[in-house]
Amino acid sequence: MKKIILSGIRPTGKLHVGHYIGAIKQLVEIQNSGDFDKFYVMLADSQALTDNAGNVQKVRDNILEVALDLLSCGLDPNKTCLFIQSEIPALTEMTFYYMNLVTLSRLKRNPTVKEEIKLRGFEESLPMGFLTYPISQTADITAFGTTIVPVGEDQKPMIEQAREIVRTFNSTYGKVLTMPEAVIPKTKAQARLVGTDGKGKMSKSLGNCIYLSDDEATIKQKVMGMFTDPDHIKVSDPGKVEGNVVFEYLNAFVKPDSFEKYLPEYKNLDELKAHYQRGGLGDVKIKLFLNNILQEILRPIREKREELAKNPEKVYQILFDGSDNANIEANKTMQNIKSAMGIDYRNIYSKK
Ligand code: TRP
Repeated sequence: MKKIILSGIRPTGKLHVGHYIGAIKQLVEIQNSGDFDKFYVMLADSQALTDNAGNVQKVRDNILEVALDLLSCGLDPNKTCLFIQSEIPALTEMTFYYMNLVTLSRLKRNPTVKEEIKLRGFEESLPMGFLTYPISQTADITAFGTTIVPVGEDQKPMIEQAREIVRTFNSTYGKVLTMPEAVIPKTKAQARLVGTDGKGKMSKSLGNCIYLSDDEATIKQKVMGMFTDPDHIKVSDPGKVEGNVVFEYLNAFVKPDSFEKYLPEYKNLDELKAHYQRGGLGDVKIKLFLNNILQEILRPIREKREELAKNPEKVYQILFDGSDNANIEANKTMQNIKSAMGIDYRNIYSKK
């Protein structure tokens, strides 16, 4: 069986280091492994509109921002098909037929959607498009014969729902759709990075993010302002490592050669943590260490981003070429779906 990988990102804001470590880094690794028949990365603008109907400009502007982020992290349009969801009409068409295969009560049970509805305070004003976005996401996945969907833990229910729709479609109309599978990142640090304030996940509205596009001084300022251990007042005090944002980030970003390069008096993270817990290690020192590590990762990304940003037409051309390419596959699947359902009237009647 072919190995077809697809991932999607909602363009609602610039990407931050949480996206990088939780998703983008893996996508680039997959791309560079070359271990697939086809690799798609989709900018899910239509999905983003399901809770931004009155704010199209935000979504539109962020298509370019997120494309710049992805390309500067190493996504390569020669290896990856990078495209825009709304450029693929078949996705909307498929969604409409899949809607007949899902019940309202099933949609309401999706735990991620439930949580998102609560967070957004929709109550009685819940847009239908938002409730049904898992169906549209099933179209995204099945349109390309996707076998593997690399996603975060929160997206597992979407893949489960997609699998149910595939099963129902295939048993109702014949085996046309490919069964997808979710692949979730391995380590906890990668799955969920806390914000610089330690209060929860990084989020734009909380102002606790380090963006891929931040300049050197801004990154340093954010690192030096990170939440650590409020009881670690004097350098000599013993300090806590759990819930300490600096250590959470070190867990996620430290590389084998980081100590040798920036903090040679320690061999590894365990040694550094032990000293912090014992007392005698100050916050400034660990923050400067983290700053060095982050600057090393973000500098080349930022430089490439600045270069690409000079030529937005070129970036859009990449997205349009990717979309043309994606349309070919999606249209084929759409035809197969119509034939399986028996609504390919033009084929039926031209055969006579
Ligand atoms: N729902 C995903 C998110 O919020 C984005 C997405 C849209 C997606 N379509 C997809 C992810 C298809 C994987 C496959 O992150």
